[in-house]
Formats: sequence, C-alpha cells, structure tokens
Amino acid sequence: MMKKIFSLAVVATMCGNMAVQAQAPQLNANNIDEVVQAMTLEEKVHMVLGCGMSFGDDVKFPGTAGRTYAIPRLGIRPVYLADGPHRLIMKQKRPYDSNTYITTEFPSSTTVAATFDTEAAKAVGTALGREVKDYGLDVLLAPGINLMRSPLCGRNHEYYSEDPVLTGKMAAGYIKGIQSNNVGTSLKHFAVNSQETNRNKMDSRLTPRPLRELYLKGFEIAVREAAPWTIMTSYNKVNGRYTCEDIDLTEKILRDEWGFKGLVMSDWNAGTNAVISMIAGNDMMQPGQQKQYNDILEAAKSGKLPMSVLDRSVRRTLELVVRCNSFNEYRYANRTDFYAHAAIDRKVGAEGIVLLENNNILPLRNTRVALYGVTSYSMVPAGVGFGSVNVGYYCVSLVEGMRGAGYTVDNSLVKKYTKHLADEEKRLFPKGRPSFTLTPLERPAEFIPSVEDLATQVADNDVAIITLGRTSGEGADRRIRDFELKIGERELIETLSKAYHAAGKKVVVVLNICSPMEVASWRGMVDAVVCAFQPGQEAGNCVADVLSGKVNPSGKLPMTFAMKIGDAAADKNFPNDMEFRMPNFAMGTGMNFKKKEEEIKAKVEEKDYDYTLYEEGVYVGYRYFDTFNKQVAYPFGYGKSYTTFAYSLKRATIEGNRCVAEVKVSNTGSVAGREAVQLYIAAPKGRLDKPIKELKAFAKTRMLAPGASETLTLTWNLMDMASFNEKTSAWELAKGDYTVMVAASSADVRDKAVVKVPKAQRQKVHRAMLPKVRITNLTHK
Ligand code: BGC
Repeated sequence: MMKKIFSLAVVATMCGNMAVQAQAPQLNANNIDEVVQAMTLEEKVHMVLGCGMSFGDDVKFPGTAGRTYAIPRLGIRPVYLADGPHRLIMKQKRPYDSNTYITTEFPSSTTVAATFDTEAAKAVGTALGREVKDYGLDVLLAPGINLMRSPLCGRNHEYYSEDPVLTGKMAAGYIKGIQSNNVGTSLKHFAVNSQETNRNKMDSRLTPRPLRELYLKGFEIAVREAAPWTIMTSYNKVNGRYTCEDIDLTEKILRDEWGFKGLVMSDWNAGTNAVISMIAGNDMMQPGQQKQYNDILEAAKSGKLPMSVLDRSVRRTLELVVRCNSFNEYRYANRTDFYAHAAIDRKVGAEGIVLLENNNILPLRNTRVALYGVTSYSMVPAGVGFGSVNVGYYCVSLVEGMRGAGYTVDNSLVKKYTKHLADEEKRLFPKGRPSFTLTPLERPAEFIPSVEDLATQVADNDVAIITLGRTSGEGADRRIRDFELKIGERELIETLSKAYHAAGKKVVVVLNICSPMEVASWRGMVDAVVCAFQPGQEAGNCVADVLSGKVNPSGKLPMTFAMKIGDAAADKNFPNDMEFRMPNFAMGTGMNFKKKEEEIKAKVEEKDYDYTLYEEGVYVGYRYFDTFNKQVAYPFGYGKSYTTFAYSLKRATIEGNRCVAEVKVSNTGSVAGREAVQLYIAAPKGRLDKPIKELKAFAKTRMLAPGASETLTLTWNLMDMASFNEKTSAWELAKGDYTVMVAASSADVRDKAVVKVPKAQRQKVHRAMLPKVRITNLTHK
C-alpha cells in the first residue's frame, strides 16, 4: 500500500533550490521560524502531509503507519509513526535482514483499565515506549480513548471504559509512561467515535452537555495531565462536521480551553476537504494524498488558505520533528528487552483480571484440571485492527499456563482439542491463515466431548475449566449474537456442569473477551466465573496466576455488564446487528459500502448508519443503570477478591479548589490482596438533571497483608463536580450538600460523608459544536 506520491514535485522543488542550498538554515529547536521562512510553498505543503503508509518492504520500517516529510536542504529529517495501543505494530521480518523484529503484545487497554491502577497503565506505557525508542520510531499512535457507549463497538478493546474519569486518568498514566522515553503519543480518536459501522462518514449527533461531560472529558483529563505530543482526530462527523474539519473542536476547545500545545493529525484518510482541515487547525493530514497536496497548494496560492494558517501548522510539525529521536539521530539498539516486557504483560494482565463469581472453589487447590473450550488451547491475546494485528510473537495457552503453575492438565483432552483445532483450521482457512488481518478471523467452533469420554474426564479430574473467547476489530461493530452465548458454548456449559456436579466436582468459566458478553442466563450453572478480558501474549500465565492464587484478583469492571442488549438507554441508537454495511475492513474515502443510487438521490439518511443520535444524553453506562434503577448482570467497578476489605471514610473536605478524601481500607480476610477504591459524588438537586452518582476519583491500595490497612488519599477538583449548562454554555457548580461515597463498585457504597459547597460557581466556555437538529435528551425528573 506504500504510496509513492509527490516524487515529481520533490525533484522540482529540490532542483529549484540548489542555488540557495549553501545558505539555507538547518533546522534546530531554536530556529523553527527561520526555517519556515526559508521554505518554498511546495515544501510547506509537503510538510503538513504524511508520506503514504509504510506497509511495503521498501521503506525503513515496513508495516508501520507512516512518516513525516523530509527536506534535506533544510536539515529536516523524517520522524516515524507506528500504531499501538497494545503492541508496536511493524513487520517482524524485513527483506535481506536476518533479524526478527519482535514486539510485545501487552494487555488490551480494557484490561489495563480493569486494574484501576494508573501505575499499571504507566508501566505498560513505559515498556511500550521503550520498544518504540529501541526500534528507532518516534510516535506511537495511541492511546485510543473513545467511550464505551455500547458493548458492541468493534474497537472497545482498544478503549478503556464507559466512564470518562477512569478513561482520562488511565490514559494519562499510559501517555506519561510512553513519553518518559522521549517518544510521542497520539491521543485518539478525537472525538465521539464510539461506533465502527460507517465510521468514515457517520455523524454523531449530540448536545453539548454529553459532549462535554462524557465524550470530551477523558480527552481533557489526558491532555491536561499528560500533555500528549500529538492528537489524532477521528473519522466520523460530530453534529454535521468531520472532526478533522472542525475548528470548534481543535482550535477553540482543544487549544484555547485546554491549552494543548502539540500537533493535531487526522486519522488515516479522514475527511474530505484538506483546506478546511488546515483552517480548523488539523495540522497534518495522514497518510497524505495527491489531491490534498493539490488542494492545499492551490488554496495557498489563491489566498483562500491564509499563509499564516499554513505556516502555523508547518511550525507545529517542526516543533514535533525537533523533539523526536530520529531527528536527533539517536542510535537505537534495534532490539528490546523482550523478557522484561513479557513480565510486565504478565503482571498487569493478571492484575486486570476480574473475579465475577466464586462459590468456594478458587483459588484452585486441586491439581488435576480438565480444560475445555477451544479458547483454552488458543487464547485471545488482543483484539485486531491497527491496535494489534493478531500476529504477535506468541500467546501462552491455558494448557501451558496451568502446567507452569503446577497443575496436571488432562492430556486426553489436550490431544482431542489439538486435533479439533487442526481440523477447524483446515475448514476455516483452506488456503492458509492470512498473515495480516484487521478484522477478526472466525473463531473455531466449539468441541463437545462424547458421553463416554466425558465420563472418563470427570473421573480423572478434580475440576473443569471452560474458556470462552471473543475478539473484535477495527472497521466493524460486533453483532448481538457475539454478545450472546453461542450454541456450542451453551451446550458445553450445560453438559459439563451436569456431569461434574453429579460427581461432586466443580466448573470454572474463564472469559477471554474483548468487551462484555451475556452472563446472566448461565452463570448460575457454574461455580466460578473469571473475566480475563484480553491480557496480551502471556494470557495463559495471567489466568493461571489468578486461578492458582499466586495473584489475588484485584481487577474491577471498567464497564457495566448488562443483562442483555437493549437494556441500556444508548442501545436504541446504535447499529445493533445492522447487516454489515462495510467491506471487511474500510478505511479511507471511497472504500465504504455504497448506498443504493436511489437512496443517494433522495438523500435518505439512515438512522444509526448515516447518523446516530445520542439521545441518552449523559445517561451512559452506570449513570443510566443506577439512576433509573435498572437491573444489571454486574455493575461498573465490580470485582471480587480472595479476601475481604473494610472501608472507613476518615475525612472528606473542600480545600480551596481541591477536594480531598481519606479512606482507610483494611484487609479483613485471610490472604493478602489489593483493593481498588472508587469515589462517587451525588450532587444536590440543582437546576440540572443529574445522574445519581458519578465517579470523580479512584485509587488502589498496595498489597495488604491480612489485618493490614492503608489510608488512601483521593483528590479531585471542585469544578469536577460541576455540570454543563447548555443554555449558558458554562460549567455550573450548584451550591449545597454533595455526598462523597467511597465504594467497592457503583452498586456497593461502603461509606459516605457530606461536603458543603457554600457558593455556586460558573465557568463559561466556548459555545461550540452545536447540533444542527433537535435532540431531546433523556432526563430523570
Ligand atoms: C485507525 C487509527 C490508526 C491509523 C493508522 C486508522 O485506520 O483508525 O487508529 O492509528 O489507521 O494506522
């Protein structure tokens, strides 16, 4: 896919400038303005465009996302961009090169979020950033922090949570970690990109309040706390404008209100009008198209694009360039500390595991285990898409993990599953597995043991473990049937539970999933349920660490598990089960599903496809379920431990513009463990309709021995408790009593106190990104 663009223009430009070459300034951090002045118009235009994707073998870093333009006569070297967030994406093999370029498959962002530990996010980020640096690249195109508005969004595994505070804080930890290596990040996809269906064209329509309070909040936190070097706008439109063409978003909100100082780039082939993008402050169009080059050049010549605007983006690009290791000719090792990074994956992957049910079985004391479910033998380390292309170096199976933890794994089952998986491989991929994939490959069908075999297995083992797997990817959303239990899976759970229970033995289910699935109809049949999300290449070891008790589970759900699709208010405006309207993978203009001619002529806009109405307003996730008192399978923030904890809220005060709470957490059980504490606020009844509680802070204890305790200090800003008033376009903090709740989940408040806000406060911001159609938000009054 490598595009050799602009080659004629480059030659012309360079020849024309031979004469001045001797005097041309050479770029450094202190002469950016001078270098901009010395550039020809053509050079400036090149500088705000990428140089095509570096997929081909004939580039410096095959399989990466691209680079910036080089102008040798001005000493401008290219800097290199590669995808994340779970893995540094590049080809493992290069032609005429005996090296293997191994990169670590880290836990999915969802798994990292489930740790509720910003230090864990930072540890993953630090290791990932180290790989970016060690392999000579400059900017990791990550993290993705779009909000989980529906469990069916195909890219949820790349995102953190349904809550903007958890999202923003985890992202900030991850960014700080990456950037501690002097490599950059690109916080993406800015913004309101919570569905993949028709992602290149769809219009997210919402009012300013949910926009500000939910969809922009995580970005705001990450920008303010971690200053990412770059931001990537998204593919979609918001209220009728492509985000990469929206001056309100990039100049007014991002730069003016939040003080962002870095570079803004588009997603790959996003938008339709490069000139409007430039004016909007979207500094760089990626991966760069000839048409964009022509249009920007033409507009700059005619004055339609003011030179000051073009210069501004060129300057921002050069500011990025001079920070980068490539520009500074850093001598990279071209290899990384793969073992140390595998250990980080194992640690964080295990800490992100959430114990959902445990009826006196875990940690497993018995030694003979029967592993069922194709996923036990072929675990899902991560989702697919540019976040990770599912061709990692290795993935530890549960067989390997359990054996490593000292268990005896039923070998007759290993043989049967190995044969079944080989047969399925032939059936599903008669021509061989593609080496590179962006949308999920079909998973093998489940295997149900025969009755006689089952009888032997029950006799030979102490416990049955069933692993269920789900994966999703970029460019398409999940189907409802993917959320639900599949026929083979239900049969497996039913058959095994009956057989093992009849013999007085227990059944454990491990979920190796991208995003929530249905649990309510079957969890009662089994004795323990462990949600491992996607823990990265060490998957089998992470799960075994928790099942064995080597790691006491301390993960909490970063999203609600609904009983079924349709229960959340947002579900009525989401492309649930829309027949796939896209090719397998759709990126860039012109690649989308073509609407029928007559529909185009009649300008028929299809709901949830051409546009999606965010009519649930601020009632997303637990904000909806808790406020409207709806039953859920597992609430936001939920997760069990092998021990128990007591909470005591020692202090909650407002000190100027900061709020502080101190909560003492004591381990009241019999094994050591860590606890993630959540702090929610209930606001007084003011002019605005508000969710019953909202997360404002969270913290995690260190490892507490039985009987030990720790006092955690949680802080948040006074104005974090404000709500956005659309009429005044201001954040408004009502005066009155605010209840501070410390909780083990959104449904499990352990202690509370009241703080008083004596005086109302208001903070006016730009009236921006207003909807063009009437949207009636859900209210609760
Ligand atoms: C994705 C981005 C990614 C970019 C470059 C796009 O399809 O949406 O997340 O960074 O490609 O590979």
